[in-house]
Amino acid sequence: MGQFVKKFEFCFPTRVLFGRGAARQLPGLLATLGKRVLLVGYSQPSPLHPLYTELCELLTEKGLSVTAYLAVDREPTLELVSHGYSTACHFAPDVVLAVGGGSVLDTAKLMVAGDAYRKYLEQRGRAGLSTTCDKGHSVLGQSQGGHAKPSSLVLVPTTFGTGSEVTEIAVFTDELPGLDGKFVPVKVALNAPELRGNIAVVDPSLCESLSLDLLQAQVTDLLGHIVESVMSRGCTRLSFLLASEAFRVVVGAYHQVSMGDRTPDLIEELAWAGLLGGFAVQISGVTVGHALAHAMGAVLEIPHAIGVGLTLPAAVEFNRSVVAERLRHLERILLSAGHGFGPARAPTIESLVDEWTGWTVKRASTLMAAKKLESIESAVVASAECGSRLILRLNPRPVGRDDLLRLVRQVLCRIS
Ligand SMILES: [Fe+2]
Repeated sequence: MGQFVKKFEFCFPTRVLFGRGAARQLPGLLATLGKRVLLVGYSQPSPLHPLYTELCELLTEKGLSVTAYLAVDREPTLELVSHGYSTACHFAPDVVLAVGGGSVLDTAKLMVAGDAYRKYLEQRGRAGLSTTCDKGHSVLGQSQGGHAKPSSLVLVPTTFGTGSEVTEIAVFTDELPGLDGKFVPVKVALNAPELRGNIAVVDPSLCESLSLDLLQAQVTDLLGHIVESVMSRGCTRLSFLLASEAFRVVVGAYHQVSMGDRTPDLIEELAWAGLLGGFAVQISGVTVGHALAHAMGAVLEIPHAIGVGLTLPAAVEFNRSVVAERLRHLERILLSAGHGFGPARAPTIESLVDEWTGWTVKRASTLMAAKKLESIESAVVASAECGSRLILRLNPRPVGRDDLLRLVRQVLCRIS
């Protein structure tokens, strides 16, 4: 199956509770971790308001002291995380409980990360953002017999595509100097063990109220995680196995998704696939598709899933020659699921990706209508170069600046 990483280590000490209704265990579970809970979530009003209210009531009934940091309205910025960090230090929670999509989970992970985040800020000359806490760099709780200890982090996703609940990765927006010294907006994917949750509670019923648009977006991001983790230089036999199974599940579910179906069984299947996809990304990482999606998010404010949908076809085409055998394995899964594209055509990943990501082209065309595409090519390339160095190193085929430029043009052509 091509060149896998021959030696690897897999250690994943996050406790995972999966299944419909798993979130009902939260009050009892959190009570075992301490007395003070900081809930991190979306800014209000949001569709999750009733869930946040119910959770706060249940936790309070259990005798826990709860405060909320409901401020997430986009992918995390340094300011959003820094403010949350100050709030957490002031409240001294035993548990930081994040309930929401990938942006909420990443914000909470960065708030609790302590050293990894502080090191990043120091390297960027922004140490002041992390010094508002006088108890050290980790967020510390109060209730272990008076001895403070680092807060436990409990992650509860309400979407299924990001996999953030089981990765040591958090993405946030920043500005970094490009090769010419000018600052460019970037999405940084910080990767460190401190960014791992202690407990992940994956309850598919929390995803049942996703709108059709969000459902499609989650499937697209998940498809990107599966295909890119399979293509990655970091792909191991284990991540390949996990991604292949996630692919089998999501391919089996896609027909229902495209018909607008949202039965609890279907959502449960997708949540399972999302969890497997998250593990695969944790092990092997992603590739140039995500590097460009992050750059388009930073420079053009293209939402992440739309960026993934736009860039994935170009990423597959660019890498096909060096990962053909792995892609053929996914194509055999397609074939066995009865996924053909017309009587004379064998299923290909390219056909699938084109079909499943077509919606992102229409959405991006609307978002980009007023922008001059040719003037932004170099900004997107610079942003990918600065913000996604590690991801680009994981791409199976070496990616130079000319390659990035060609790929960006290919993606922008798809939109225009
Ligand atoms: Fe993603």
